[in-house]
Amino acid sequence: MSAILIDGKLVSAKLRGEVTEKRIEFEKKYGRKPGLCVIRVGEDPASVVYVRNKLRACEEVGFASTCNILPESYTTEQVIAEVEKVNADPTVDGLLVQLPLPKHIDEARVVAAVAPEKDVDAFGKLDAGHLCLDEGNVLPCTPAGIMEMLKHYEIPVAGKECVVVGRSNIVGRPMAALLLAADGTVTIAHSRTPDLGAVTRRADILVSAVGRAGLITGDMVKPGAAVIDVGMNRNAEGKLCGDVDFDSVKEVAGYITPVPGGVGPMTVTMLICNTLYAAENAEK
Ligand code: GUN
Repeated sequence: MSAILIDGKLVSAKLRGEVTEKRIEFEKKYGRKPGLCVIRVGEDPASVVYVRNKLRACEEVGFASTCNILPESYTTEQVIAEVEKVNADPTVDGLLVQLPLPKHIDEARVVAAVAPEKDVDAFGKLDAGHLCLDEGNVLPCTPAGIMEMLKHYEIPVAGKECVVVGRSNIVGRPMAALLLAADGTVTIAHSRTPDLGAVTRRADILVSAVGRAGLITGDMVKPGAAVIDVGMNRNAEGKLCGDVDFDSVKEVAGYITPVPGGVGPMTVTMLICNTLYAAENAEK
């Protein structure tokens, strides 16, 4: 193996330590803990695991956390009513609605109902606008976590060729905006890109956020590139794996994130950072 492993657990542990110290200060100053509320609708197995991880992370850094589990049968209006209830609760600084929601629920309307000052996922229109205008505010957790990993490993972005594969609102688009804000030369590739390999081979920093196991193979990677794998897939044997074919890519890349243990822990850590930020703003 030639690539250096980017250890998301290590960078997470460092940041969570810093958040814990700031939480202690916050509690001394304001006599309460920062609070996160997670709303989960239904029993999607992946969401159950993700939400559990988020609540555990809150416990680890000493935040107050609550989880409102709503039945699958809830309508869009009922979920929005729950969001509005939490919006009005002064003990909650950060609110997130775990996605995906059941098919019959209008996800866009639910996301839009989250109060902007509590939107710790930064999925709402206000945060998306701030990000596009490079105005510094709460940042979407997965792309923000990736930027923190690049910083920790001293991987430069300015002037580098950055390729993001995938254009989702949660990862691809905000990732491209953050790399651009850091002065990268950014290309977004997606399902209509005719020759994906020709684009990815240009990348000094390659981020794949598609959700297809084995999409990125060693022959698609520039020697020495930093390869960031946002994929969370199951292979034929049911094992958790990313979009990147780890075995072939690690021989070519300069840096690589594993799945699990790469981007995943960082997403949760940035959520914690965003909750602290929201709590400090609420006290201003
Ligand atoms: N589903 C997959 N990733 C995320 C995330 O970062 N936040 C929320 N709310 N739902 C998700």
